[in-house]
Amino acid sequence: MKVLIFALFVVGAYSCGSPAVTPVLSRVVGGDDVRPNSWPWQVSLQYRSGSNYYHTCGGTLIADSWVLTAAHCIGSRTYRVYLGKHNLNDNEADSIAIAPAKIIVHEQWDSYRIRNDIALIKLETPVTASHAIMPACLPEDGHILDHDSPCYVTGWGRLWTGGPIADTLQQALLPVVSHANCSRPDWWGSLVTNSMTCAGGDGQLASCNGDSGGPLNCQAADGSWEVHGVVSFGSSMGCNYAKKPSVFTRVSAYSAWISDVMARN
Ligand SMILES: *[C@@H]1O[C@H](CO)[C@@H](O)[C@H](O)[C@H]1NC(C)=O
Repeated sequence: MKVLIFALFVVGAYSCGSPAVTPVLSRVVGGDDVRPNSWPWQVSLQYRSGSNYYHTCGGTLIADSWVLTAAHCIGSRTYRVYLGKHNLNDNEADSIAIAPAKIIVHEQWDSYRIRNDIALIKLETPVTASHAIMPACLPEDGHILDHDSPCYVTGWGRLWTGGPIADTLQQALLPVVSHANCSRPDWWGSLVTNSMTCAGGDGQLASCNGDSGGPLNCQAADGSWEVHGVVSFGSSMGCNYAKKPSVFTRVSAYSAWISDVMARN
């Protein structure tokens, strides 16, 4: 009996995508401040300038030592990963900054055509899960979300045209746009590939560049949250330009790459 209880505890301690503080799922088309710690896999990727660090991109904790982000977020700077944050300007007891041990950018990252916009950061030390820090689940390999699936983008960057660069984490409902619709000639056409997911657009909110690298969070049937997308690009015409939804790297197209990188590093 003791063994069984212990086993259950271990499973619970390492679960993903089930925050202790559940997010407020607003159906309102508009960005909202999030309930603190309700997206505990959201990280702030920051770069050093002088003696300070500045937020540059979002990212997603997917295992105790691994953070998923966009390749275009990575340059030659010195970075740190801030976990458990809600307000970037506050000293928050449950938050922790960890230096990357390694940053692995996808070998076929193509910054010209924006292909394979995905990178993994291995943390110098693993994080301990808490109510403020927990990994998101990864989607099933190859899983394609239905058109109009209700997903949420989260980040500290601009979530909508004219929206703020926020101190407190924001969320916005972004319904998925099918590949068939997103790749129409008057939408994104051939700029959008099968390894990408589109969400929002057409008068809806869409993420802006400030959210690069951050998660597109979608709820699985069992209630757990999966990171289905990594914010990749949007329209230079504005964040919610008609027929130009936000484009995400489709995480389920990179399942093999992710497990391979994690196994080899
Ligand atoms: C394209 O979008 C329309 C309008 O939202 C929707 O009714 C239709 O099902 C979509 N097509 C596909 C193939 O998903």
